[in-house]
Amino acid sequence: MILKEMKNIEKNKVQKKRETFSSGIAVFFATLSSAVGLGNIWKFPSMVGTNGGGAFILVYLVAVLLVSLPVMISEFYIGRRSRRNTVGAFDKLNAPPFFKIVGYLGVISTSLILFFYSAVSGWVYSYLFKAIKGDFKELGSLTMDQATDKITKAFDTTIGGNISPMLWQLIPILFVTIIIIAGVKQGIEKVTKTSMPILFLLIIITCVIALSLDGASQGIDFLLKIDLSTITPSMVLAALGLAFFKLSIGVGTMITYGSYITDDNSMIGNAFKVMLSDTLVSITVGLAIFPAVFTFGLEPTEGPALLFNTIPLVFSRIPFGNLLIIIFFLLTSLAATMSMLSLVEVPVAFLIEEVNIKRKTAVIFIMSITAIVGLLTVHPQSILGNIKVFGLSFFDLFDYISSNILMPVTGLLIIIFVGYFTRKSDIYNELSNNHSLRNKWTIRIFYLLAKYLAPILILIVFLNSLGLLG
Ligand code: PFF
Repeated sequence: MILKEMKNIEKNKVQKKRETFSSGIAVFFATLSSAVGLGNIWKFPSMVGTNGGGAFILVYLVAVLLVSLPVMISEFYIGRRSRRNTVGAFDKLNAPPFFKIVGYLGVISTSLILFFYSAVSGWVYSYLFKAIKGDFKELGSLTMDQATDKITKAFDTTIGGNISPMLWQLIPILFVTIIIIAGVKQGIEKVTKTSMPILFLLIIITCVIALSLDGASQGIDFLLKIDLSTITPSMVLAALGLAFFKLSIGVGTMITYGSYITDDNSMIGNAFKVMLSDTLVSITVGLAIFPAVFTFGLEPTEGPALLFNTIPLVFSRIPFGNLLIIIFFLLTSLAATMSMLSLVEVPVAFLIEEVNIKRKTAVIFIMSITAIVGLLTVHPQSILGNIKVFGLSFFDLFDYISSNILMPVTGLLIIIFVGYFTRKSDIYNELSNNHSLRNKWTIRIFYLLAKYLAPILILIVFLNSLGLLG
């Protein structure tokens, strides 16, 4: 009896003492590993291609600097100050009850993202398997046209099969379930610290090879040529949505991660470094993919297929290419898995702290839902994929609702909370670690962006895309 009681006391203590990341560098890699993922490697090039290149990148960069960065800092602030999950955080910070909605919206958006993200992760895993099997080996001995034809067909069969895309989708889901049950520290920190730098290196290598291809200058032109006439309200909304998606903000992920950040960490510095690295990765991926697009006669507007078609083609032209394809898809699988881990962490932390469910049960619950609903997102040609809602496949619908509506709205509420419902002194204290950091100026700039510019910009983009600004 006494022993049981002691065990309970011990258990409560463990539950009360929230885990934190072990060091500043661990914070950086963990947040970066959430940010860098399929958004950079798959979604960014796909959207740049379909939205006309340079102008889209320009709008995207403005959105990242003026909107995403202040939202990210705001999320870190809310997370560390409260040391709670997204729903509990607002309670702890005495926010008006309305702000609880941010937490619920976050739980909804992360779940929606997980549904289609797991599908694309499944494609990446299947490409890793194809590369290991040696399916891409003969590309190098074919003419360019034949190779392009073969690789395009390979993508169509990967996503268009009746059953196989669903089976592939289940693999990352299972993998993530196993990793996350191991806990925040062991699960997230160890893998990211080693895999991230290698992934960066490989992307740079891919870029160097791509820049030596015949179509390199056309690819660079496409990325750098800014044609302002291509900027439309819906394109601006898409760029804003991507800026949220890529930095994993506007869903509460960074609130949850913020709640694990140590007291001595410079959160503004960390947000800035993550934003910079994430942007660098995307631009490098762009420089790797678009030269290949033009060299091999692919269409920049191909969308989701771009990554899967170009990477094997680029590597097929150099010695040890197949090995590099294997490493590339292995690291991309890891990056996708890491981002999925951070997505799952939002609903899981919510279930543990608000509904009092054990971590293991919470993970299994969320991942089972992801497996069931996620299967709806598989490609239009598969069994479930040809069901349409509002004319969109489930895949596109989940993507649109999360990136273009829920994330910006949630992000807007987050900065409104920080800008208008938080004491200025609390913000200065928290972001300067109780004045131990000399960063008054950066806090001041952040505060101005969070209070005025960022919310106004989000509102304008929204109203404009709804056609309400004439
Ligand atoms: N930022 C991730 C990527 O670019 O792949 C996707 C993502 C992860 C979005 C976590 C949102 C999130 F909460």
